[in-house]
Amino acid sequence: MTDLKTRLQASYDAIAPAYNAWAISNSALRLRFLNRLLELLPPPSQNSTSTTTSNAEPNNNAPTPTVLHALELGCGAGIPITQSLLQHQPHTFHITANDLSMAQIALAQEAVGINGEITASAAGRTGDICSEVTWIQGDMMQLQYPDQSFDVIIALYSVIHLPRTEQDVLLERIARWLRPGGLVLVNFGAESVEEDVMEDWMGQWMFSSGWGAEVALEKVKGTGLEVVLGVVEREEGVDAEFLWVIGRRVV
Ligand SMILES: C[S@@+](CC[C@H](N)C(=O)[O-])C[C@H]1O[C@@H](n2cnc3c(N)ncnc32)[C@H](O)[C@@H]1O
Repeated sequence: MTDLKTRLQASYDAIAPAYNAWAISNSALRLRFLNRLLELLPPPSQNSTSTTTSNAEPNNNAPTPTVLHALELGCGAGIPITQSLLQHQPHTFHITANDLSMAQIALAQEAVGINGEITASAAGRTGDICSEVTWIQGDMMQLQYPDQSFDVIIALYSVIHLPRTEQDVLLERIARWLRPGGLVLVNFGAESVEEDVMEDWMGQWMFSSGWGAEVALEKVKGTGLEVVLGVVEREEGVDAEFLWVIGRRVV
């Protein structure tokens, strides 16, 4: 399927507003799992994996400001995940938000601000060290990072749009891109489907794929990640079950 990514991009460009109207109002389960992941993060002052990026004058009485680096694969319109990371306290995130669809990224920028400033200021989070976003439009399979680049990686309802073989490659990359102690939240279709092509999903062509819950979980374990959570659940308003995984890089 040579034009898979082009077709997917065109479909999401076309359906972005309609998809988001539906997806944003049914985001309780995504938020529940995101909160599970956030609860697993060590407090900022004890965070050994974080880095500082402050240009501010040093204040010897203040705890060292720390920034966690997050990667979001298939960020969609930035709600609820990008927005929640920007609002989250006490951690400060520098988020690299990727999506294939330019329309989705434009909507996300409109929602949270080009640098995340709309959400950050609405949440009262301003100052020298502030959460921010870098946007990358394109296929997540084209992303390249050195090992141990991220503290957190999130990919919800997006890996399902990759062919199975690419899902395997991406999982290995995610495990490498995480720092020791880093966490990933990812979901996979619970059904085993080699290629599910729909000619009319919200009026557009759509592709998804998956190994099924059992095999997908084994594949996550096969990367060396520790599975902190692996459950099959259906999000309200979604017509299929998904395997939700929180994985941690241990070494
Ligand atoms: C079902 S939406 C999910 C969006 C968001 N993560 C959420 O939970 O609402 C899938 C998103 O993945 C994006 N996507 C699909 N294939 C992709 C790829 N190869 N690389 C990056 N993004 C992709 C789509 O453009 C779309 O925004």
